[in-house]
Amino acid sequence: MKKFLAMAMASVMVLGVVGCSSSSSDSADETEETEGEETDELDGVEATAGENGVLVMGCSADFPPFESYADDAQTIEGFDVDMMEEICSRLGLELEIVDMNFDSVVIAVQTGKIDVGVSGITITEERQENVNFSDSYYTAAQSILVPQDSEITGYQQLVDGDYTVGVQLGTTGDIMASEALGDRVNQYEKFSDALAALLAGKIDCMVLDTGVADAFAAANDLVVLDENFGTEDDIEYYGIAVAKENTELLDEINAALADMKEEGFFDELNAKYSE
Ligand code: ARG
Repeated sequence: MKKFLAMAMASVMVLGVVGCSSSSSDSADETEETEGEETDELDGVEATAGENGVLVMGCSADFPPFESYADDAQTIEGFDVDMMEEICSRLGLELEIVDMNFDSVVIAVQTGKIDVGVSGITITEERQENVNFSDSYYTAAQSILVPQDSEITGYQQLVDGDYTVGVQLGTTGDIMASEALGDRVNQYEKFSDALAALLAGKIDCMVLDTGVADAFAAANDLVVLDENFGTEDDIEYYGIAVAKENTELLDEINAALADMKEEGFFDELNAKYSE
């Protein structure tokens, strides 16, 4: 299983790099600033709240091992997908997955384009103003990912230096890094683009969620620093985002999650996806 996962992740890496090299051919800056484009993926997509037996989940499929493309470059797989498949089977629903930019996921839930946002989303007070979150299903922190030969040694030294950082737009890593480092932060719509920039030497490091940093490091011969970005208190909890008015669905999801936790489902899932 380990091997399979590593291979799946490696293939996603390759996709990401290919995707970036074709879009950044004219200028190095092109991938750095996001234009807040409309997500075409959402054309014709509509939340159904399970009414027709389908639950529409939105995610940014650039986040192994939580959600990323399988070898066929079409199927989205990972921890979040397995969890939602299980929840849906318990609720008697069929899961449909839509890939979008991360900064669109919460808005898509709020505006009823999708039923649930499941994308390694950290529960934050700001996001809670717009959507409800299920009980937490995973704990993370922000890691610093660097090339093998990097001079970056730790959090404070990164802050004090003049290093550049790549983040995914709208993530907690983006918010924390932008606050600490200002315009030394380059925002990318997809993590695959940030990773491509790091591998091409356009940025000095990336700030991103721990498990995903480990996956990127393993697949691309990079290093995750021992020290996290921020302080020991900067712990994050992932939750499933549901529209404020959709309280019935939220209750059903929480009940399923509680049963799954009790039955050891997450122990199995953690074992499946840990290195
Ligand atoms: N946990 C972080 C956040 O909520 C990053 C999530 C990014 N997810 C993704 N699928 N790209 O901001």
